[in-house]
This record gives sequence, structure tokens and C-alpha cells, in this order.
Amino acid sequence: MQLNLAGKTAIITGGSAGIGLACAQALYAEGVSVLIAARDEARLARALTAIEAHAEQSGAQAMSVSADVSTAAGVERTCGLALRTWSQVDILINNAGSAPSGDFYSLSDDAYHGAWDLKLLGYMRMVRALAPQMKARREGRIVNIVGAAAHNPTPTFLAGGTANAAIINFTKGISQDLAPYGVRINAISPGPVDTERARSLARQEAAAQGISVEEATARRVASVPLGRMAKADEIADMALFLVSDRAASITGAEILIDGGTTASV
Ligand SMILES: NC(=O)c1ccc[n+]([C@@H]2O[C@H](COP(=O)([O-])OP(=O)(O)OC[C@H]3O[C@@H](n4cnc5c(N)ncnc54)[C@H](OP(=O)(O)O)[C@@H]3O)[C@@H](O)[C@H]2O)c1
Repeated sequence: MQLNLAGKTAIITGGSAGIGLACAQALYAEGVSVLIAARDEARLARALTAIEAHAEQSGAQAMSVSADVSTAAGVERTCGLALRTWSQVDILINNAGSAPSGDFYSLSDDAYHGAWDLKLLGYMRMVRALAPQMKARREGRIVNIVGAAAHNPTPTFLAGGTANAAIINFTKGISQDLAPYGVRINAISPGPVDTERARSLARQEAAAQGISVEEATARRVASVPLGRMAKADEIADMALFLVSDRAASITGAEILIDGGTTASV
């Protein structure tokens, strides 16, 4: 499929691991210059090497920035670097997220604030920082990586579930502001995806439910009608499609990649 993305520029938050890294690799392989943002500098350096090795002939530029995008300063640092370097950002993949699992009565206020600051306010701040130049140029594509927990609440994942539900609301609401300028924003909601995060969530769920990590993982997989965890590449493939002109009429949409978990109409 011809995506015609070569020459564009993209920021991927949480681009040093898992789904974010898969998105950065896929974009770079299409000739898109990428800036990945995350906190751990050593992991960022390893990710840059992996991105460049993924497509040596891409002709694009790969950069990283160490920033905590749950803070206004981290968002400013990330967007400032991209805009100073490229003068414009065509694509934003909002992806950084790390909401904890845990017993509702045991999780502290800090756990909720941390999840909402990173995933909800962090995503909103990134859009607020980048949308004006997208609107002015009538050129911009945004994908929010959310999560099927938005639709499938459980008592042990309420920090993440509530953040995800709110991001769907935000995605659909702001899409109406952006659409007249030709700027599109969509959400991808994965079910379980085989990443480091899925493994740490299994450890947290095991502790919250008093079961073994193996049992928590098996229950998570068994809850998926297709009986498997998705690979990060599958999420990246959909992100690539959504930021391409192939999806020119798709905005304010949420695409579920959850193996059939979400049964609501
Ligand atoms: N994996 C799943 O089963 C699953 C399911 C549904 C939804 N999702 C969503 O998909 C997204 C990616 O998940 P993943 O599984 O790929 O996670 P992951 O493997 O744990 O990777 C998370 C990435 O985000 C970065 N990050 C975390 N906190 C950050 C912060 N405060 N500031 C900047 N970067 C930060 C991490 O780097 P540093 O730690 O170095 O900052 C890393 O690059 C998340 O929003 C998650 O909620 C995942």
C-alpha cells in the first residue's frame, strides 16, 4: 500500500519501547523523520539504534529527547526541540502511558494523578502545543494510543480505565475543532499487547488478586476471544494507516485492536 509519508516529521511519545518504538520504526521506514520522547536516556539511545537499523536507507532523521511528558515542562521541551529542528510537525503519536493496576482501596491519590497527568493531560498538552501550527498549515495527523479498558472497566484498573475513557471523549471532541482545517485525530484502543508494560501489569494484577503472575497472564489472554495478545507491530500498522492519506476521511474515530474483547455496540 502506497502511504506517501516520506519527508514528513513526527513526534512519538513513549517511543523508546513497546508500541511507541514499533510506531517510530514503522514511520522511519516510510521515510518520516522521527523524534522519540521518553525519560530513560540509555533506553532512548538503544531505541535510536534499533530505529536506524530497522531501515538504514530511509533518508529520514531520527532524534530522541529525554523528557517526562506528564509535565508541562516535558511537553514544552519535546515540542520545542521538534519545532526548532524541523519548523513543523506533521504527525503526533500520543502513546506514553504507564497507569498502574491495583486494588481500588489501596491505590493512593498519587497513583491516579500520575496516570491522569501522563495519559490524559499529557495527551491534551501535546495536542495543544502542536495543533496551532497544524491548523495554520492545514496539515496534521494525530493518533492517540488509548486502550480497550476505556470500554471494559474492572475494579483493579480504574486509573488507566478512567484515563482511557476520558481520552476517547477528548479525541472525539477536539476532532471537531481540527476537522475544518484538514487536521485529523483518531484513537487506537488496543487490548493486551505483548510489551514490557503487559508484563508489569500482569505482576501488579497478580499482587492485587492474590494469584501468580502466570495465572494473571493466562487469565488476561483467556479474556481475549481470539485467544492471543497482539504484537506491537500490529498497532503500528494501524497507526501508519491512520496518519496516511489512505485514511483521509477518518477523524474522531476509535479503532479497537482487542481481539474481539469489547462487545458493546
Ligand atoms: N501493552 C498493552 O497491553 C497495552 C494495552 C492497552 C493500551 N496500551 C497503551 O499503549 C501505550 C504504550 O504501551 P506499551 O505497552 O508500549 O508500554 P511500554 O512498553 O511500557 O512503553 C512505555 C513507553 O512510554 C515511556 N514513558 C512512560 N512514562 C513516561 C513519561 N512520564 N514521560 C515520557 N515517556 C514515558 C517509556 O519510557 P520511560 O519509562 O523511559 O519514560 C516507554 O518508552 C500506553 O499508553 C498504554 O496504556 C498498552
